[in-house]
Amino acid sequence: MDILEKLNWRYATKAFDPSKKLNNEQLSRLLEATNLAPTSFGLQPFKILLIETSDIRVKLQKAAWNQPQTTEASHLLIFAANLELNDDDIDNFLSRTSEIRNIPLSSLAEYETMMKGFVAQMTSNDLAIWSAKQAYIALGQLMVAASVEGIDTCPMEGFDKGAVDKILDLPNQKLGSVVMAAVGFRSKDDKYQHLPKVRKPLDEIIIKL
Ligand SMILES: Cc1cc2nc3c(=O)[nH]c(=O)nc-3n(C[C@H](O)[C@H](O)[C@H](O)COP(=O)(O)O)c2cc1C
Repeated sequence: MDILEKLNWRYATKAFDPSKKLNNEQLSRLLEATNLAPTSFGLQPFKILLIETSDIRVKLQKAAWNQPQTTEASHLLIFAANLELNDDDIDNFLSRTSEIRNIPLSSLAEYETMMKGFVAQMTSNDLAIWSAKQAYIALGQLMVAASVEGIDTCPMEGFDKGAVDKILDLPNQKLGSVVMAAVGFRSKDDKYQHLPKVRKPLDEIIIKL
């Protein structure tokens, strides 16, 4: 596999073929790949809402500048940041680590103090931004993994966050929408797939010291 070939194949798909759906295996592999994204401390402070139901997607399309990807793609994922993180969340993470790695909880005491201290000093705004950053890393991983598997995606920030949060009842779950990903298969009529990539030359991006 040539990763550059896959990444050049990927583009932000504007027109999906509504008749083409991911099968269960494709979907579960993609979600597994996304869940393997690294996060700060490993805390994974976000949820991913997987939306297939068409009536919710019609409502979301209205809140997303009427972008057709929201309803035409096979699946729509909404990345939602945790707006609250408490000691219980950290304790759950530590118990899981202890269980999976078969190590005593007591060996994680220092890590626990550090994480709880880090989270406690954040304002609610800091926490929302920090959680959103973690979600974006997962979004990036989703798009790369999808391209490797021959699945198309469109990352989408073009939506009214307040309206989306309301449709999905996110505030009651202490969540805030951050970004969407439409996932599916490109329409053969999507002219964007033929456009060459527009990127700065590497020497404008990389500062060598
Ligand atoms: C965070 C983010 C938000 C984006 N939001 C939208 C969007 O709402 N609608 C859309 O059609 N494309 C959206 N895009 C796609 C970008 O316009 C696209 O990735 C960029 O122009 C580069 O083109 P390429 O991905 O096809 O290489 C978004 C991309 C990112 C990374």
